[in-house]
Amino acid sequence: MAEIIDTDREPDRAIARACAVLGEGEPVAIPTETVYGLAADATNPDAISRIYEMKGRPRFNPLISHVSDMAMAEAHVHFDPISRQLAEAFWPGPLTLILRQRADSTVHALASAGLDTLGIRMPDGFSRRVIAHFGRPLAAPSANTSGKISPTSAVHVEADLGDKLKLILDAGQAQIGLESTIIKVDGDEIRLLRPGGLDAAEIERLLGRPVTRPETAGATIEAPGMLASHYAPGAAVRLDAAEVHAGEALIRFGGNRIAGEEQAAVVLDLSPTGNLREAAANLFDYMKRADASGAETIAFGPIPSDGLGEAIIDRLQRAAAPRG
Ligand code: TXA
Ligand code: MG
Repeated sequence: MAEIIDTDREPDRAIARACAVLGEGEPVAIPTETVYGLAADATNPDAISRIYEMKGRPRFNPLISHVSDMAMAEAHVHFDPISRQLAEAFWPGPLTLILRQRADSTVHALASAGLDTLGIRMPDGFSRRVIAHFGRPLAAPSANTSGKISPTSAVHVEADLGDKLKLILDAGQAQIGLESTIIKVDGDEIRLLRPGGLDAAEIERLLGRPVTRPETAGATIEAPGMLASHYAPGAAVRLDAAEVHAGEALIRFGGNRIAGEEQAAVVLDLSPTGNLREAAANLFDYMKRADASGAETIAFGPIPSDGLGEAIIDRLQRAAAPRG
């Protein structure tokens, strides 16, 4: 069973233990502001292998390298001017940039699945202190079995990977609750590879120009992790429900009642006041709770598509996609 250390109560021991375990080439579950990550030394191929193994993740799907400061980032990737502007504005924070890896970068090719680019992010929260202390980038996907819902608490991580992990750092509920927004700057095109915890409209406001949305079905998948059936709970998922069928779990938004909800196995509201940030922070936990109700189907009420709604709906569409 995994050892769990509370980062509020024992910050120094949490950092020391995490760095010791990481130094042995073992993954550690760490709290970032988006979701909990399954982190390992990005320069150590055996450690990276352990991540793929623990998650059951296909090795063609590259990992994000997490850094604690700009100097660490610059040692591994080349910044174009627009990406630099984004990093300066939004790091530390829920933004991953896809950048060309430097020839002298020590991040191992297994982390980038052999691509010549690196997904790189400076996370906020306790994880950044761990990276700073460790002194090298940490490769970290979300700390869940591949294809399952990302964990937003140490409890989620323990339930899924607790018997495989040595150490989980517990910083409570993740503030943002959705994975990072992934951006790739291509010449003067700013491409959104994955909507996430940073609203793409904020990027457009900063740069004063539009962000290109992900290609529609049929086009090549640019972030290899963006497979259709992903973020799947055990139950089937039905979106934009106008009415609830007996025995379904209902997850709604903004206090909007759905016809027939008296017969639902459980009714959860992502944000009774209609706040999309609150909804994002609750989303994965509520999906897990709805799943745990034993209902065979989770019905979702309508959710607005602006702001963080874009990323929320993206995750729900993946959860609703046919399972492969
Ligand atoms: O918020 C997050 O991003 C969390 C926390 C732990 O930082 N991490 C996360 O990692 O969501 P993961 O592995 O679940 O998603 C990483 C995504 C995948 O879709 C992967 O294909 C894409 O990033 N990716 C990584 N490196 C890439 C690259 N060089 N080019 C294109 N896509 C890349
Ligand atoms: Mg993931």
